[in-house]
Amino acid sequence: MTYISKIGLCLFLSGTLAIASNSILEKKSDLIQNGKTIGFVQILTPVEIIKSNKENSVIKIKGFRLENYPQMIVRDIKRKELYAEFKDETIANNSFKILKTYEDEYGEVWHEVEGEFTVSTNTLTKDKDNLYLNAKKTYERTCSMCHHLPLSTAYTVNQWPQQIESMMEQVALDDTTKNLIIKYLQQNAADAK
Ligand code: HEC
Repeated sequence: MTYISKIGLCLFLSGTLAIASNSILEKKSDLIQNGKTIGFVQILTPVEIIKSNKENSVIKIKGFRLENYPQMIVRDIKRKELYAEFKDETIANNSFKILKTYEDEYGEVWHEVEGEFTVSTNTLTKDKDNLYLNAKKTYERTCSMCHHLPLSTAYTVNQWPQQIESMMEQVALDDTTKNLIIKYLQQNAADAK
């Protein structure tokens, strides 16, 4: 009987955790810690909601950063999709807990990190499908005006931001649209999966 109720409890807990990590940034949002804005989290970044009310949510961000450049948090060592960026090195170092340390093929030291921050609740969504559909449509509409729509797999996660930057001479995109397209292409890039 006790075993059964323990199993039941485990299933219940893992169920709620899975739902909690299923949120995503609908737009770029300021990161707040102890009442101060210390950086931002980029659109389409997956996060875990720790607690939430109508105005604010405490979120957990997990990612990787270079020991020598802790301001930037990226998806992983190979795929440098931007998750978050901080105002300076000290703030960045103080904001995250180091989970693990790695060395890449060039001898650079990386930290796997996690941290908790406050963001506005209206920047988060659990409706990933709708957000991705919107990102896909924005990409298709914006990037097929002058030439065939490029395949997202034509470039790697690390190559796409530069491709988009070079396109900025041709097309003026607002910051949100630009970052939405960059993140959409990175998440569907040649080496994304
Ligand atoms: C206003 C017209 C215009 C729009 C809109 C446009 N492009 Fe282009 N694109 C060009 C032109 C012109 C070239 C070829 C010349 C060049 O490379 O600059 C090109 C070339 C490219 C290339 C090939 C570059 C290479 O090195 O071979 C890629 C990739 C690309 N565009 C991606 C995009 C993406 C992604 C978007 C949407 C954000 C986009 N383009 C929107 C005009 C446009």
